[in-house]
Amino acid sequence: MARPTVAGNWKMNTSLAEAKSLARDLRASIGDINGIDRVLCPPFPYLMLVRETVAGSSIGIGAQNMNYQEKGAFTGEVSPSMVAELCDYVILGHSERRALYGETDESVNLKVEAALKAGLKPILCVGETLAQREAGAAESIVGKQITKALDGVENASSLVVAYEPVWAIGTGVPATPELAAEIMGGVIQRNLIALYGEPAALEVPLLYGGSVNPDSVQGFMEQGCIHGALVGGASLKPEDFAHIVRTTAGVKGVS
Ligand code: 13P
Repeated sequence: MARPTVAGNWKMNTSLAEAKSLARDLRASIGDINGIDRVLCPPFPYLMLVRETVAGSSIGIGAQNMNYQEKGAFTGEVSPSMVAELCDYVILGHSERRALYGETDESVNLKVEAALKAGLKPILCVGETLAQREAGAAESIVGKQITKALDGVENASSLVVAYEPVWAIGTGVPATPELAAEIMGGVIQRNLIALYGEPAALEVPLLYGGSVNPDSVQGFMEQGCIHGALVGGASLKPEDFAHIVRTTAGVKGVS
């Protein structure tokens, strides 16, 4: 079975002091739980601090983005090797980056390839907008996002895929577990199997993201094709994030 994984995407939130306090609290509460990967994704300037704060625990660190180029005159950008010096994971293709910063399936593909080459585990985000869902295009959009992002990627062993329906992000209204499972156990898993075959495809952790909180997490985790969560707002509250991690571990039978 794919390894249960819960990642917290802090987005553009926290001060330096808040980042330290959040990391310290989480180290104390979920620093050493077996059988489930826990990943903190703070803003770039706090990666080093958060890494040092959780050092010695089994908590992983992730960045929220990176450039795909190795180095050069790219003012303001951060390269794969820079990220890899501090992180285990990198979130790629988040819908906010697609919507606000012009990321395309093509640029996400370049980033996934570069991340793997640098030894990072990409958390590849896919998901349809409300308009796309209402037009009956959810499956085809997500299928296209997956196949394009993974074009030329030959090995699935370091991949994580997050399904984040855009209409459920930051709204407080998550998708239903059944709807998420329909996409995740459907078009996402089908495409992964077509690309990598079984059992490799079934080892890729599939995370649900979009208003996951301590109340909603259990239902998602009860779905066999959902192996974890990518958490936004609730990852800024140490008790809520720890609760989400413990519930996931409990439902998946690893604690
Ligand atoms: P929320 O949990 O705040 O809806 O954010 C989800 C998300 O975008 C995680 O990447």
